[in-house]
Amino acid sequence: MDTLSVWRGTAPSPGFGMLSGDLSTDVLIIGGGITGVTLAVLLARAGRQVMLLEAHEIGSGSTGNSTGNLYETLAEGLSSVRSRWGVDMAREVLAVRRAAVEFIEQQARGVPDAAFRRCPLVRYALSPSHQAEVDKEFESLQAAGATVERSQQLPPGLPAAAGPVVMLANQAQMHPQGYLVHMAKQAAQAGASLHEHTRVLDIDTNARVVDTATGAVKYRELVMATHTPKGIRLVHNEMPVHREYGVALPLQAGHDIGPGIFWAEGDEGISVRTLDHGGQRFVVCVGQDHLPGAHNAKAALMAVEAAARRHFGEAEVAYRWSAQNYRGADSLPYIGRDKSGCFVATGFATDGLTWGTLAARMIADELQGGMHAFARHCKPTRLSPIKGGKALLQEAAVVTKALLKDYLTHRQEERLSSLAPGDSALVDAEGESCAAWRSPDGELFAVSSVCTHMGCKVHWNSVETSWDCPCHGSRFRPDGTVIEGPALKPLARKYPRSLEP
Ligand code: FES
Repeated sequence: MDTLSVWRGTAPSPGFGMLSGDLSTDVLIIGGGITGVTLAVLLARAGRQVMLLEAHEIGSGSTGNSTGNLYETLAEGLSSVRSRWGVDMAREVLAVRRAAVEFIEQQARGVPDAAFRRCPLVRYALSPSHQAEVDKEFESLQAAGATVERSQQLPPGLPAAAGPVVMLANQAQMHPQGYLVHMAKQAAQAGASLHEHTRVLDIDTNARVVDTATGAVKYRELVMATHTPKGIRLVHNEMPVHREYGVALPLQAGHDIGPGIFWAEGDEGISVRTLDHGGQRFVVCVGQDHLPGAHNAKAALMAVEAAARRHFGEAEVAYRWSAQNYRGADSLPYIGRDKSGCFVATGFATDGLTWGTLAARMIADELQGGMHAFARHCKPTRLSPIKGGKALLQEAAVVTKALLKDYLTHRQEERLSSLAPGDSALVDAEGESCAAWRSPDGELFAVSSVCTHMGCKVHWNSVETSWDCPCHGSRFRPDGTVIEGPALKPLARKYPRSLEP
């Protein structure tokens, strides 16, 4: 299935050249999303020598596949922070996230492609059983001093509310890819060196050298702005991986809902917003949160598509996409130096545009000799292996069950020769466990099914045509190439012809 987000489809990267040859730099940033690009702008403007490497294109990771919503609370709910850390921390979270949104507003001023606008965030329950969560969120926001109120009103066309809705005033939304492209140009203009299609293959933190296929870079400081850090790190065990699905379709007459972030909570929960682009108004719907490897990706995407068309008219879906997120074990992100001396910025859950902007500002402060006041709460070295491990084990148990069922029953018996075009299978071939897929034009790809990060078994993602690892979110193309996640090495390529029965 072809997937492309409405953001990437309407604001492509201007194109930055591949790295060529061996170079050195003061600060090396891996990852061209909002964290890395914002940091490149801040450091380059401060006169630092900065290089940024992006494996694909600017914004092709989470930023260009997000919702574009900017808010001071958390998608999980401010109540999660309040109950774990207390009301003072909830107040601090609101303040630093509000400041990050204001920073974006300043950068986006006078930039039409960024499409920044202020709007309310509206949160409500789809069923009475979810009303208590919404009420709890209202109380937490109020206790932390947010400008929040309850209302009975929802714009027509949205899924109906089961009770009072919570309205958080003066939040914002933007075109995330339009903003990112603008910021990438700003970074380049300020002197940063940006390189797309430059995948990092190896990181030597002792020698302070990063290897790519087209050159090596020697650095003084390294920042992994890669959504989840590369390589094997303790922080991975703290962060369960989740995947969500999005669609955008032209809004039909009579279905307009106006500017706003609309979160409908419930079993069929969905996030809704609109986007004006090129004289057309789109409605953007995102939902179906799942653990990778433990669900049917196509069914999840179809469920979001069906909900969007049920509520907003029968227009053809123009864009479909999905995105991965990593959740911190204690509701706060991990930002700062880790034990290896590199900077990491991860655990943003689905709140990454705002956390990512804050992370860039915090890391820039530290690299300039200062320390952001919130940094003490975000140390990546604050790991709580028991708490994090428990969360991960609970989620991994579901994944493992699904994988074993899939692997040991009908899939085990499947023969490569019977794979129809477009089909995938996990099979034993010549004593090895293989992940096989036959392309629509009949070509067979077979790679090792063992994730090169820490050895979990990959699982097919029929929407993105990729092999996804449920443990820490590494994703691979059918030929084994790394798409994203902590894995640095590709899945071992088997020789298709020798595996054909
Ligand atoms: Fe960690 Fe696959 S991503 S084992």
